[in-house]
Amino acid sequence: MKNNLPIIALDFASAEETLSFLAPFHKEPLFVKVGMELFYQEGPAIIAQLKERNCEIFLDLKLHDIPTTVNKAMKRLACLGVDLVNIHAAGGKKMMEAALEGLEEGTPAGKKRPSLIAVTQLTSTSEQMVKEELLIRKPLIDTVVHYSKLAENSGLDGVVCSVHEAKAIYEAVSPSFLTVTPGIRMSADTANDQVRVATPSIAREKGSSAIVVGRSITKAANPLKAYEAVKLEWEGLKQ
Ligand code: C5P
Repeated sequence: MKNNLPIIALDFASAEETLSFLAPFHKEPLFVKVGMELFYQEGPAIIAQLKERNCEIFLDLKLHDIPTTVNKAMKRLACLGVDLVNIHAAGGKKMMEAALEGLEEGTPAGKKRPSLIAVTQLTSTSEQMVKEELLIRKPLIDTVVHYSKLAENSGLDGVVCSVHEAKAIYEAVSPSFLTVTPGIRMSADTANDQVRVATPSIAREKGSSAIVVGRSITKAANPLKAYEAVKLEWEGLKQ
């Protein structure tokens, strides 16, 4: 990742909505996340538009399929020139290795391979859901740390996890391994569907490598002001 800016989750339904949200930010360098909703609507064109606007891009498509399919999909994603992509660690080691191989093969000569991170457990998942619906008896933190080690052993650059898991992951993996943490809320905000949430300053204290912030910015009355507040708190300049 080139910069340490908060990653804004552009969870919008169209390019039009996205670009009008970004207009008040002018040409300020930003780190943005494009998720399924926007990418499925607009396709690669939205990536080109955001790159033109000087954005670093996390393409959050959370791939999870058989290794060959993920490998081929990653070859295609590598051509887009994004900076960060992800898969589900639950797809297993073979799938993660196949994803990395696809990215390496698909990255155009002379370009940097996008970083590859694995989703451990979604931040909307609760301990109770994992036990009762997925029938996983181990504590959630154990599965998250296990998935992180598996991702590292598969050659990945990091994981997506909750702020509350970042420290335990750091104790189990090498220091350069990334922990990208969604589920970020300012102290006055509501959690919505997220369960394992934290503020930007707690994320900094717990050692997150990067924070992903959606609704606390995109649904704010003044998104630019909300972004600046998140950024200041993340940089440790204001609590
Ligand atoms: O609006 P909010 O800040 O909750 O948005 C969080 C963003 O991060 C969403 O785009 C969501 O898909 C994404 N995300 C997440 N948990 C993960 C991985 C990605 O919330 N484990």
